[in-house]
Amino acid sequence: MKLQIDGDRLWGTLMEMGQVGRDGDGVNRLALNDANKEGRDLFTGWLRDEGLEIQVDRIGNIFGVREGTDRDEPPVMVGSHLDTVREAGVFDGALGVLSGLEIVRLLNQEDVETRRAVAVAAFTNEEGARFQPDMMGSMVFTGLLDAEKAWAASDDDGVTVKDELQRIGYLGHDELDAGHYLELHVEQGPVLHSEGVEVGVVEGVQGMAWWDGEYTGEANHAGTTPLHLRRDALLAASELCLRLRETAERLGEGSVATMGRLHPRPDIRNVVPGGAFFTVDFRQYKRELYEEGQETVAELIRDVAERHGLEHSLTQTVDAKPVMFDPGMVDLVESKTKELRLSYRVMHSGAGHDAQFMSHICPTAMVFVPSIGGRSHCPEERTLRADCVNGANVLLRCVLELSTGFNRTSQ
Ligand code: GLV
Ligand code: MN
Ligand code: MN
Repeated sequence: MKLQIDGDRLWGTLMEMGQVGRDGDGVNRLALNDANKEGRDLFTGWLRDEGLEIQVDRIGNIFGVREGTDRDEPPVMVGSHLDTVREAGVFDGALGVLSGLEIVRLLNQEDVETRRAVAVAAFTNEEGARFQPDMMGSMVFTGLLDAEKAWAASDDDGVTVKDELQRIGYLGHDELDAGHYLELHVEQGPVLHSEGVEVGVVEGVQGMAWWDGEYTGEANHAGTTPLHLRRDALLAASELCLRLRETAERLGEGSVATMGRLHPRPDIRNVVPGGAFFTVDFRQYKRELYEEGQETVAELIRDVAERHGLEHSLTQTVDAKPVMFDPGMVDLVESKTKELRLSYRVMHSGAGHDAQFMSHICPTAMVFVPSIGGRSHCPEERTLRADCVNGANVLLRCVLELSTGFNRTSQ
């Protein structure tokens, strides 16, 4: 009989991790905070219980490596992230990491010897909710971001990534390679659930651009300053918010633009806001349109500042280009999904993932399972136990093929 994921064990592990950082209805394991450390410690404890060698690199990525018989071959890596946004659900990231752990537990339990090593990864700061850029761990791992630059990123209180890595004890120096990468993730959107499909075979990830911007005008008295003499930074940011929506609609082809943060200064009811800090997130699948959208958004931000007679500053913090995954790996995921007689559709990812960056250094693919009602990045994020187990079984079969048989997608 073929190996099968232990659904109770996987679900129990997920729910246990979901208690770490619980804050009311949601979870708060913002990158490198105390709860994130607690989650890391729990995970490394589980890896140790399986007798795995634990490696931590310079950006705090954690890898549990189960050796294969062929030491010259780089490992088949599976994973995702354990950090969350604020008020998060329990599945985003944790499902991918803990499915990897479940696969290793199963291989140990059944005494399966693999030729390639299997490495389970938990990447640092995938979310980018506290430190930018997001997907920081996988960017450093793949050489697309210098560790020194990532270390210097600071949160809203000026605390740096390096300070926090040191404080929580996850500033390592190990160096690891990956031969293949697979990531199981909840879809975080409505497609699979609304179509009643069990698995998403992910062939690519859309591009994502982030900016931090600030409009600066003039704070003044709300009662005495006539409208035509105001330099209201919040008014400009509000116009920008509306025009971003129009811009995304005009660009079309699924383009989305979001102003997720907006902080007026001085934030007092009877003062015309002299400053407004805002963030912009723009995403698009098609490479050319993604590039065009980036230029259009940056131009719009400048144009609105000019129209309102304001100064502005603008910093692009993320430019994650759209990627298409290795066709051989996508085929592998599709064939294993078929073998399991699961319904599936081939699709893109709307959310950013570590797989996006891993695909730059090794053959990579992703498996999606449905998010109930398409909810994610909120406490209501849910995926059925059966769907999590289905996805983990697809992942298991892919890992077995890549680590035991070298006939496919080998570099
Ligand atoms: C990461 O989760 C993102 O897509 O924003
Ligand atoms: Mn995620
Ligand atoms: Mn997320």
